[in-house]
Amino acid sequence: MSEPSGPPPAISLQALVREYRGRGTPLRALDGVSLDVAPGEVFGIVGRSGAGKSTLLRCVNLLERPDSGRVTVLGQEVTRLDESALRAARRGIGMVFQHFNLLSSRTVAGNIAFPLEIAGIPRAEREARVAELLPLVGLEDRRNHYPAQLSGGQKQRVGIARALASRPRVLLCDEATSALDPETTEEILALIRSIRDRLDLTVLLITHEMAVVKAVCDRVAVMEAGKVIEEGRVFDVFTRPAHPTTRRFVSEVIGHVVPPGTVAQLPAPNPGEERRLLQVLFAGPSSTRAVVSEASRRFGLDLNIVSGRIDAIGREPYGLMALAAYGPSPAIAEATAWMRGLGLDVSEIAEDLA
Ligand SMILES: Nc1ncnc2c1ncn2[C@@H]1O[C@H](COP(=O)(O)OP(=O)(O)OP(=O)(O)O)[C@@H](O)[C@H]1O
Ligand SMILES: [Mg+2]
Repeated sequence: MSEPSGPPPAISLQALVREYRGRGTPLRALDGVSLDVAPGEVFGIVGRSGAGKSTLLRCVNLLERPDSGRVTVLGQEVTRLDESALRAARRGIGMVFQHFNLLSSRTVAGNIAFPLEIAGIPRAEREARVAELLPLVGLEDRRNHYPAQLSGGQKQRVGIARALASRPRVLLCDEATSALDPETTEEILALIRSIRDRLDLTVLLITHEMAVVKAVCDRVAVMEAGKVIEEGRVFDVFTRPAHPTTRRFVSEVIGHVVPPGTVAQLPAPNPGEERRLLQVLFAGPSSTRAVVSEASRRFGLDLNIVSGRIDAIGREPYGLMALAAYGPSPAIAEATAWMRGLGLDVSEIAEDLA
């Protein structure tokens, strides 16, 4: 198989395994995870609690050492570095935490400058960097405030500025918005996207919320029990989820295509005819009503629109419609093929899943 060509990945994880050994049987937090994150991407990792997301993220900057597998960041295989080389490599990787982890005895400016102090950067340079970062995260007027005087969103802005202090090219975010209300979450996600654009960063972001993925990510990997069970462009994963777990995640955000209880209310097919539930996905503007009525005429079918909605992921609009098709089985198959020929993505929904 040939790899798609393009720039080398900013982050490449190959066959990562990480076990925690306690008294009982060892727990495989990572069970052979491989992932490539392209430069400039906001890449999401989503999964339920305990799926292994934080373990994975900590393996990228080797806060956690994998038992086996390779981690390559910006072309450097970090799993081969000794401690001092690793410390230098870590400066190229910023990290943002769920609970901000700010020093309560230091001001906003003092918190942002802290990693630069640790790295031995001279005072004048530190101050210049802080002066650049404050407007970037919208905190010019909070320079001398203490964490206790800040809202959650402001604290996270400090956390982000601190993560950016050493001019990293990769930013890792572990549930960076999970402690925030929905409105503040939106602001912080917008900030993450804007710094990605302005600073040419690659962002690896973990979350248990598919809404966060929808709002901010370009691609996503879904984790379950230490494995990646599905991966792809956010648009594709949302519109055509393959794994049942992914389907559940997606439906939490965009709802079920067929509202629960719908099937029970549908009339039974006439003797000798079939009833099929079809999902029709169209990307971009499309006059689906006209398609439905024409398909009905051409193939002699009874086509009922059971549900429909129009939404957008990123800037890509899409529509999703469920149809109940009644008629002879070959006619339904022909109509499906005809709609596919028009560029629509048509799939059958099993009635027990509807
Ligand atoms: N230091 C540790 N010692 C033992 N087990 C651990 C340790 N850290 C994590 N685990 C276990 O490894 C598994 C994966 O944990 P991890 O923190 O990576 O999950 P997560 O997906 O980040 O979950 P959450 O959404 O709750 O943060 C869990 O079963 C967890 O209990
Ligand atoms: Mg976690």
